[in-house]
Order: sequence, then C-alpha cells, then structure tokens
Amino acid sequence: MNFDSPITIALSKGRIMKDTLPLLAAAGIEPQDDPSTTRKLILDTNHDNVKLVLIRATDVPTYVQWGAADLGVTGKDTLMEHGGEGLYEPLDLQIAKCGMWVAGKPGADLTARRLRIATKYVRAAKDYFAERGQQVEIIKLYGSMELAPLVGLSDLIVDLVETGNTLKANGLVKLEHMCDISSRLVVNKASWKMKHKDLHALVETLRTAVG
Ligand code: PRP
Repeated sequence: MNFDSPITIALSKGRIMKDTLPLLAAAGIEPQDDPSTTRKLILDTNHDNVKLVLIRATDVPTYVQWGAADLGVTGKDTLMEHGGEGLYEPLDLQIAKCGMWVAGKPGADLTARRLRIATKYVRAAKDYFAERGQQVEIIKLYGSMELAPLVGLSDLIVDLVETGNTLKANGLVKLEHMCDISSRLVVNKASWKMKHKDLHALVETLRTAVG
C-alpha cells in the first residue's frame, strides 16, 4: 500500500500488539524498531508517512478520539468504558478474544438485594445491572478483581475471562456471561473524512487480512 496522508496508528504493548503486527504486516506496514522491546513511544515504519504510537491500552480510544492518532486497536472492553465518542469502529479484528463475565464464589446469589460488585469495568457493570432493573453498588478497582470477593470487599466481580485459570486458582466461578470481547479497529471521525482514501484502503486491506 501507498499512503498519501500522514497516518498515526495507536497500539498498546502486550497481546494486542503481538496479534496486530501480523495484520499490519499484511497491509505492508512494518515498524523499524522491535515494538515489544523498545522504550520509544513513537516508532517509524517502512512507510515515511506511517507512524506507530505505543500507549497504555486504556488510553488508545482517548488518543484516537482527540485525533492524536488517526486509528488504533483497542479491546471492546476498553471501548465500552470509554464510550466511543468521536470514534468509528469499522472492524472487529477477531484477536485477543475473551468474555466479560459476572463471577463470584460458587452459589453466589445474583438476585440478592444491594449487591456489591468490584470491577475495572464500571460502565459495563452499571449498564448490565441497570438493564436487569437491579440496584447494585459498584466498587472501582484497577486490577486483580478476583481478590475482592475473597476478602469481603464485594459479593461479585465483573471481569474478563479467557482460560478461566485465574478464577479457578482463586476458588471463584463464572456466574453469568455478559458479552464477548475482542479487539476492534477504531478510527477518528475527522481523520476518516479528511484522509478517507488512505484510511478506507487500509481498513479494507485489514478486513481481508482478518478473513
Ligand atoms: C485479566 C483478567 C483476569 C485474567 C483472566 O487480567 O482481568 O484477571 O486476565 O484470564 P484467564 O481467564 O485466562 O485466567 P490481566 O492479566 O489482564 O490483569 P489485570 O488483573 O490487571 O486486569
């Protein structure tokens, strides 16, 4: 592919990066430095006009929303928490797949009154229980949610489950499936208009690579 406009792509290190690089390579985009080891935050690629910015996963929608990056790759979980303002979500990349679940101790009662739910996914949890017409108290955490029911901080957690190993190791079980999660391509709405030819071609090439 050739790019007439300057394009900035936001990625986060870890699994999303590992699974996204082969897709970008299929579109002919290769970073000049090894993104998994470099301390640089802006990476040149084999295209003069295309740069990668490496940021925290939860910051990807924000950079794209404000146009600091034209497009980015982010988990649906992160996108739901962000809200998606200023973004198009043209493509499910089908990578980093897992599920969002309500989990807790075996036999925990989901219908109990005044449940306390510990989670990083406040918005998703609020929406989910509001939809059921259930009043719950949400406790915001930043990680290791599995600990919360074990030490009496909460009755339940809302968390991502992939293999289920973390729940199992802590004596917790999946109670209710909330939604499927995978990584999405997000595009800044203004960039989509102004750089339409390049971004449209890139999205369609990635769509073909995803299969
Ligand atoms: C995620 C998630 C679970 C775990 C699930 O945590 O929050 O804790 O992975 O994976 P599993 O079902 O394969 O065990 P992550 O490692 O991203 O760290 P976090 O606690 O900071 O969210």
